[in-house]
Amino acid sequence: MNQERIQQPELLHKIMSANEATRFFTDGMVVGSSGFTRAGDSKAVLQALAERGKTSPLKITLITGASLGHDTDGLLAENHILSKRMPFQADAVLRKYINTGDILFIDQHLGETAELIQNQHLPAIDIAVIEAAMIKEDGSIIPTTSVGNSATFIAKAQKIIIEINLAVPTSVQGIHDIFYVGDYPNRSIIPITSADTRIGQNSIPVDTSKIVGIVFTNLSDSAANIAPPDTKTTAIAEHLIQFFREEVRQGHLGYSLLPLQAGIGKVANAILHGFVHSEFHDLTMYSEVLQDSTFELMDAGKMTFASASSITVSKECYQRLFMNFERYKDKILLRPQNISNAAEVIRRLGIIAINTAIECDIYGNVNSTHVYGTNMMNGIGGSGDFARNSYLSIFVTQAASKENRISHIVPMVSHVDHTEHDVDIIVTDYGLADLRGLAPRERAIKIIENCSHPDYRPLLLDYFERACEKGGQTPHLLNEALQWHVRLIEKGNMTIDK
Ligand code: COA
Repeated sequence: MNQERIQQPELLHKIMSANEATRFFTDGMVVGSSGFTRAGDSKAVLQALAERGKTSPLKITLITGASLGHDTDGLLAENHILSKRMPFQADAVLRKYINTGDILFIDQHLGETAELIQNQHLPAIDIAVIEAAMIKEDGSIIPTTSVGNSATFIAKAQKIIIEINLAVPTSVQGIHDIFYVGDYPNRSIIPITSADTRIGQNSIPVDTSKIVGIVFTNLSDSAANIAPPDTKTTAIAEHLIQFFREEVRQGHLGYSLLPLQAGIGKVANAILHGFVHSEFHDLTMYSEVLQDSTFELMDAGKMTFASASSITVSKECYQRLFMNFERYKDKILLRPQNISNAAEVIRRLGIIAINTAIECDIYGNVNSTHVYGTNMMNGIGGSGDFARNSYLSIFVTQAASKENRISHIVPMVSHVDHTEHDVDIIVTDYGLADLRGLAPRERAIKIIENCSHPDYRPLLLDYFERACEKGGQTPHLLNEALQWHVRLIEKGNMTIDK
């Protein structure tokens, strides 16, 4: 088994336990680890490090691809291992420490982290912890269910620890496409011209003299949190499908549309699910995460190819995928996240980007990250990479939630992740606002009339009309603009008492 998974015999003596591997970590280190939205993450060494923190305290900066599974982020947080974390997280415990200010969090465009490391805008990586399916004869590694920032961490780290996960079959070899853009001022173009263009190698080259430890694990990725479609997400999906139908009717798009990107969360997954029983066909995906809906669309014969940086699926989908891997293998590619999220490629392919908002304002600015403009939810993820550069930038949210105490269409968002300039379409369960070619005053009317919940529509219209009386390109009443959030905090409701 060891020889099959470690094909360079000189490396066999580096096998050790996760506990032994923790001795390479010292206080103040910058650690780069694999893992992208719960896929392909370290499952032993970071956990052992969290355990070690109980008896011999140390603090590290942890940089990953995106969020980790197996409660690793939470364990590291509650054992006080993390001083700084970037570029994304989605863990309830870590979130709590971030919002108390005990752990510093840098919320970063996921396509940029590798570039920031490469350009030395971030501190150098001391040690990389990378999950792999195997080490090849030439020392290069085959990643598992994500690529994330692993290629950059391996290239830049002083020391490398490899976690070989026996739960991932070696047949994953072939689904990865590793490509380096090179350094300024001589960077190359990224020659991807369709979702299925392969441009690099199927393994990550490693300078094996930097490998200090190899740890074996045998654990599947944490399952994705998938909620089945409900009335609201189904309504959002239907509005969107109807919009695409109209685009086809007008000759703007064909039935294969353009490559799709879908963000995380229950709404995005439900929307893709909505394509299963539609007339659209030969769809492709150029995204950062392959979700259950990707494989549902492939099974339904609707999707021909999907490219991303990770596979983050439910337990049932994970088993189905690996039991029938040959069926999917030539239909998927996993790339480094600075390639899956590269502005150049997103613009060239004409991506239709569908991401989720926490709230949108009447002019089309979007908050994807902060509750009450203050508390971090997850992070911007790749939504900014895609929204800015896409062919169509779509944001979806419920019109209202929590028994309609929260309106997700507000006069002014309490935090801005995506400005009105990067938002083409807003969809809620009440309808769709096509904002293309509209000036702010026109956008406001479209958004309020088509997307807001009827309980809040008169309030929004009243706000907008009174703001317009005062004038301005983007009319606002600054003393009222954030009162909706203040009311929610103070009385648990955004409405005004009659
Ligand atoms: N005010 C207060 N709380 C709000 C809120 C608002 N306007 N909007 C959402 N929330 C809360 C919800 O109540 C919920 O909290 P709960 O779990 O305590 O009930 C939580 O935020 C998540 O909202 P939910 O409706 O369950 O949304 P979701 O699962 O569809 O996720 C995002 C929505 C925006 C949080 C998620 O899509 C995200 O993190 N996006 C940013 C990253 C991204 O877009 N990546 C894209 C590339 S993969």
